[in-house]
Amino acid sequence: MLIRPRRNRKNAAIRDMVQETHLSVNHLIYPLFLVDGQGTQQEIASLPRNFRWSLDLLLKEIEASLKLGLNKFVLFPAVDDQYKDNIASYSYAQDNFYLKAIRSIKDRFPDLVLMSDVAMDPYSSDGHDGLVQEGKILNDETLPILGKMAIAQAQAGIDVLGPSDMMDGRVGYLRQVLDEQHFNEVSIMAYTAKYASAFYGPFRDALNSAPKSGDKKTYQMNPANRREALLEAQLDCEEGADFIMVKPALAYLDVISLLKEKATVPVTAYNVSGECAMVYAAAEKGWVNYEAIVAEILMGMRRAGADGILTYFAKDFAAFTQQ
Ligand code: PBG
Repeated sequence: MLIRPRRNRKNAAIRDMVQETHLSVNHLIYPLFLVDGQGTQQEIASLPRNFRWSLDLLLKEIEASLKLGLNKFVLFPAVDDQYKDNIASYSYAQDNFYLKAIRSIKDRFPDLVLMSDVAMDPYSSDGHDGLVQEGKILNDETLPILGKMAIAQAQAGIDVLGPSDMMDGRVGYLRQVLDEQHFNEVSIMAYTAKYASAFYGPFRDALNSAPKSGDKKTYQMNPANRREALLEAQLDCEEGADFIMVKPALAYLDVISLLKEKATVPVTAYNVSGECAMVYAAAEKGWVNYEAIVAEILMGMRRAGADGILTYFAKDFAAFTQQ
């Protein structure tokens, strides 16, 4: 046998040399849930190991994460039902608890990167990402609300905005609104290929944000489609996206790979709540080795082409690699 691939696997030193893909805390973005109040740390039933934090305890969680080397976070607000309405007005109410938290976090830790969604769902009494009229989810009419939300978050100090409603014309509109108000340094992470997925269940539990009626299939992509992701990527890039995202990640590795090949901006992957919940459940039963499986899943996303990964595993992965 002239060629024996096993020679390149014969010991750790050689394996390390020929390793094609690398994964470190630098690639990870840690999603965190915020709730109003003080002294609160509620575990999310369908997403164990993850919590709704009040700001005081969230700051401690961020501090601990920074010590482990994580420096990018995405923050989601769990808003009390009494503040939700059909125009998501609470999203841009001056100094709502979410905007206050963005300010406090950036004041306390100016060097970390803080990201946030720009979509109506956490604040909407309809549980949809856009305005609802007679059962229809409106596209263009939702834009001014997103504009107000984006400016409020930019004023609070957000670093990266993620228009996550998967509707048309978001990136271009927000880029224009941000630039007009001199927020040209605020980045846009486009939710480029966001699929109408069953993997978002635990996230919607965390925010109590499930749609009150219907589903999200008129705006999120059909899981069967791959070429359509190219069209979405082309539009987001033309509209000024700084990076583009594929979501969920695990069942969509081919889409990550496709966009990485075709686009010229960085690609992120969102390893969403349902994907992580499955692993937590199997690990709790002792059916899989949690540490090994997390590393393998995240490496798979990197191998597919993800530059960055939003993942609920971020802190555990960081802790494992510090040992
Ligand atoms: C909402 C949003 C969702 C997620 C991130 N932003 C849910 C949805 O579209 O219904 C899901 C993330 C996850 O499941 O971890 N715009």
